[in-house]
Amino acid sequence: MTAEMQGKVVLITGGARGMGRETALELGRRGAELIIVDWEGEAGTRTRDAINAAGPGHAVFRYCDLSSLDEVRALADWVEANYTRLDVLIANAGITDPVRRVSVDGFEMHLATCHLGHFLLTNRLLSLLNASAPSRVIIISSDAHKAGDGLDFDDLNNEKLWPDPAKPSNSAAFKAYHRAKLCNLYFMYELAERLAGTGVTVNAISPGYFVNTSIYRNMRGLFKVGAKLVFGIGSLFGLNTPERSARTYVMLATDPALENVTGGYFEHGKPKETSELAKAVEPRERLWAWSVEQTGVGGD
Ligand SMILES: NC(=O)c1ccc[n+]([C@@H]2O[C@H](COP(=O)([O-])OP(=O)(O)OC[C@H]3O[C@@H](n4cnc5c(N)ncnc54)[C@H](OP(=O)(O)O)[C@@H]3O)[C@@H](O)[C@H]2O)c1
Repeated sequence: MTAEMQGKVVLITGGARGMGRETALELGRRGAELIIVDWEGEAGTRTRDAINAAGPGHAVFRYCDLSSLDEVRALADWVEANYTRLDVLIANAGITDPVRRVSVDGFEMHLATCHLGHFLLTNRLLSLLNASAPSRVIIISSDAHKAGDGLDFDDLNNEKLWPDPAKPSNSAAFKAYHRAKLCNLYFMYELAERLAGTGVTVNAISPGYFVNTSIYRNMRGLFKVGAKLVFGIGSLFGLNTPERSARTYVMLATDPALENVTGGYFEHGKPKETSELAKAVEPRERLWAWSVEQTGVGGD
């Protein structure tokens, strides 16, 4: 059995289910010491137990709502207190939800979970990542970043997206998700530039389209029916299984050939172009400055 990740510490958010779970299982098989972070306690402990039963790696589960800034701060404190190294940080947790929900801090949930929680967590753990260099930050985005008009800097908190905030809207959820996944790429490009030459690489992944996980379970109506159909057909041909997508996560986390590769976007094992909008410098600098104001980290 290969144990190429023996001695390496990997933190993965959203590691209880879906592609995060498949990635954690494979990295465990390769000997990694895993910190699985999720707000799904039962699924998280099941994933932890499966990894520990299979070996040779080892896993712990930490409950954390990534959309809560205080819970993320407490998670970072706990990691710093319990680990002397962090080799790979995989920012994977994400949602799609047609109901407009807000975090305990008042941020719209797509933005809070996909972007702000990961912005805070990554910045808080940078000293550990730096001390463990060569180390890797992997941010899970999506080609959904291409399917929209970009961020609205007058409405970063998505106050205006829902025509009626009391009513669910698939279309508002798509727009919020598009913006959140674009935020992931702005964060990736800016962080990669800021960390150039430190030995900490930063890359992003598009896991593919309609990967058969539970991420679309909150969607309504025709979209939900259509998604189930695509899931079913894709699965028949093995095109959209979480296992297939997790291979790219594992590649980014382990491949020695990628040790110095930073600022890249990958899908199914290959580099891919992001949109021109995602490559624009001005919005990513504005988003970074706004995120510093909201979270209190990343200012230097
Ligand atoms: N599936 C796709 O087709 C697809 C395509 C492109 C990109 N992606 C991206 O891939 C990543 C993984 O998605 P997946 O499809 O594997 O989804 P998934 O099966 O729903 O797994 C995501 C995990 O993250 C958890 N999570 C969500 N919000 C959280 C929060 N605030 N705090 C802590 N944990 C939270 C989820 O819990 P709950 O189940 O309770 O929400 C779930 O356990 C996401 O970033 C997603 O945007 C997915």
